[in-house]
Amino acid sequence: MTEQDAKSRIDTLRSELHRHNHNYYVLNAPEISDRDFDFMLKELEALEKEWPQFADPDSPTQRVGSDLTKEFGHVVHERPMLSLSNCYSVEEVDEWFDRVRKALGGESFNVVGELKFDGTSIAITYRHGRLVRAVTRGDGTRGDDVTANVRTIRSIPLVLQPGDWPEEFEIRGEILMPWEVFEKLNAERAYNEEPLFANPRNAASGTLKMQDPRIVASRHLDARFYYLLSDDLPADNHYDCMEKARTWGFKVSKNMALLSSPEQVNDFVGYWDENRKKLPVATDGLVFKVNSLRQQLNLGFTAKSPRWAISFKFNPERACTPLRFVSFETGRMGIVTPVANLEPVLLSGTIVKRASLHNEDIMRELDIHTDDWLYVEKGGEIIPKITGVDKEQRNPESTPVRFVATCPECGTPLVRIEGEAAWRCPNTYGCRPQITGKIEHFCARRMMDIDGIGEETAELLYAAGLVRRIGDLYRLTASRLEKLEKIGEKTAARIIAGIEESKNVPFERVVYALSIPNVGETTAKRVALAVKSMDALLAMNVDMLKAIPDVGSTIAQGIYDYLRDPVSISNIADLRAAGVQMQLSEEKMQPAGTALEGKSIVISGTFAYHSRDEYKELIEREGGKNVGSISKKTSFVLTGENMGPSKREKCEKLGIPMVPEEEFLKMIGEK
Ligand code: IVH
Repeated sequence: MTEQDAKSRIDTLRSELHRHNHNYYVLNAPEISDRDFDFMLKELEALEKEWPQFADPDSPTQRVGSDLTKEFGHVVHERPMLSLSNCYSVEEVDEWFDRVRKALGGESFNVVGELKFDGTSIAITYRHGRLVRAVTRGDGTRGDDVTANVRTIRSIPLVLQPGDWPEEFEIRGEILMPWEVFEKLNAERAYNEEPLFANPRNAASGTLKMQDPRIVASRHLDARFYYLLSDDLPADNHYDCMEKARTWGFKVSKNMALLSSPEQVNDFVGYWDENRKKLPVATDGLVFKVNSLRQQLNLGFTAKSPRWAISFKFNPERACTPLRFVSFETGRMGIVTPVANLEPVLLSGTIVKRASLHNEDIMRELDIHTDDWLYVEKGGEIIPKITGVDKEQRNPESTPVRFVATCPECGTPLVRIEGEAAWRCPNTYGCRPQITGKIEHFCARRMMDIDGIGEETAELLYAAGLVRRIGDLYRLTASRLEKLEKIGEKTAARIIAGIEESKNVPFERVVYALSIPNVGETTAKRVALAVKSMDALLAMNVDMLKAIPDVGSTIAQGIYDYLRDPVSISNIADLRAAGVQMQLSEEKMQPAGTALEGKSIVISGTFAYHSRDEYKELIEREGGKNVGSISKKTSFVLTGENMGPSKREKCEKLGIPMVPEEEFLKMIGEK
C-alpha cells in the first residue's frame, strides 16, 4: 500500500465510522452490525499504527462512542466508563489468556466467565443504601443523568437490603428490554404503523432516553449488574463482590462461572453459543475477567479498556437466499411498506419467508435488484433483517427494484410525508386496507371492544357493502348480518350485542378508536382528558391543540385536519346519534374525590408517575388546593426527586409532613 493509498483509506474509514457512531449513539438507528463496525475500527487502528504520520486526536479510534443527549443533565463519571476489547474467536480468547499469564509473571489466576448482556450501560451510585444517581455511559467521561427514568425500573433497588454495603459505591450494569416486552412493543408499533425498534438494545436505550418517566415505567425494562466500584469493596475478588451485591438486592446473573484454564474457557464458550438462545434477554457475547482485584490492579488499563478483561462476540446467524419478489403493502394509516419475499430459509430454528425492507431509503441503500441473493440475519433479533446483497451472485441483466409510485391496492399516486422516509396512499377513505384496517382497529379490544369483528369480518362487511366506514357499524342489524355467508345467527347476535355495549366505552377510548393520524393510546387519553368532550375538541384550533401536554405540531395539525374531513364528520355524527360517549364520564369530569378536601398542598421536586401539571389537576380533582410556598398553613408537601434543601429545611422547622409520590397516589386511591 502506498502512503497515499493509506491516507485515503484512513480518511474513508474515519468519515464512515464517524457517521456510524452518530447513527448508533445519537439516532439509535444503526445501519451496520456491531461486528462490521468493529472490523472497520480494527482496520483503521491497524493503519494508524502502521502510518503514525496520519495520527489525529479526533479519530474514531481515540474515543469510545457517545450517547450524550442534549435534554439531560450531564454528569462527569468519577471513574471513566471504559469499554472492553472485543474478539471474535476462541483462539483470540486463548491469546488473551496467555498475555495475562505472562503479564502476571506466571502467577496462577482465575477468570470469571459472564454473559455479555446486550442493552445499554448504566452506572448507578448508592449512598447510605439508597439510590442517588444513575448515569449513562455517554462518551465514557461524561454521561446523561437519567435517574428519574432508572427509578421506574422495578428490578433496580431504590433502597438496599440490609447488609455490609459500603457507605458509598457505584455499581455498573446493563439496562435491558426482555425479549417478551420487546416483541410486544414492536407488535404495538407495527400496529400503529410506527417505526419498529431494530433490536432490544435500541429499544432499551431509546426508552431510557425518553423525557417522560411514565412512559419508561410502562415499558418494563429490566437490568443485570456486573461491576462494583468503591474505595471500600466487600471482597478481594470480582466474583465475591458480585455475590455480595446480589444479597444487597441487585440482579446479578446466575450464569457467572469461575474458570481456571483455557479449556474451561472454551467449554464455557461452546455451552453459551447454543444455550444463550433460551435466555429471556438478549446477549451478544461473553465477557472474561481476571477474578482477583489485586491481579486486576497489576494488569491495569490501556487508554480504552482494561487489560484484565476481554469480550468474545457470538456470530450472528446469517443465511443467503434468493429474493422472489418485493411486495408493497398498504397499512391502516396508508403507509406503504416494501417487503422482501424470499425463498424460504431456516434461520435460528425458524423458517424465514418474508422480511420488511421498512422504507424506500433502506431499500435503496441495500441496492436490491430483481433475482438478487439476499443476506438475512437474526443476530439476536427475532425479526429477520436483510443486511445486504451478495453482488457476486447478481445476474448482470437484473435491474434495481423500484419503489412503487402508486398505491398497490387502489392505484392512487403516493405522497411522501415531509421529513419522513415513508410513502403514503392519500386515498384514506377509498383504499380497501385503509378502510378495513380502520374498521378492525375501531372494533378491537382496547378500543370499542366489539366482539366478533376482527380482520376477517371487517373484510367481509366491507366486501358485502354493509360497512364502508365506522359510522355504518351502528346501522347493522342482526337480519342483515345473518344474510352473509359466513355469519350465523349466533355470531350476528354477538356482534349486535358488542355494538350495543360499545356505546358505554369511555370517551378516551372512543378518541383512540377513531384512527386519527399519529394519535396512539397514550395521546388519545391525554387529549380526551384535556378537552373533556367531542364538542370542545371540534372547537379547537391548532394552537389550542398544541397546548395539550405531549401534543406537538404534527399531531395537532393531524387532529385538526382529521376533524374537518367530511368522512370523519359523518362518522362522528353517526356515533353521536347512536349514543356513543362523546364526553368524559361524570366521574372524570368533576372533582371526583374528597380525599384532599380542605387541604393546601405544595408540590416540590420532579416526579416519576405524573407531571407537575397533572399533580395540580389531581389535587384539584380531589378537592385540595395547590399552593406555591410552604407556610404554617400548608397541610403537606408532595415531594418528588431533588426537592431543594431549603424547602426541606423549612418543612422540618415548621413540622410540615413530606409525602412521597407513591404515598400520595395511595392517598387518592391511584395505587
Ligand atoms: S464489564 C471496564 N461485563 O459491554 C469493563 N460489561 O463493551 C466494564 N457489558 O460498556 C464492563 N455485559 O455495557 C462488563 N458482563 C459484562 C457485560 C458488559 C455487557 C457491556 C457494557 C460495557 C460494554 C463493553
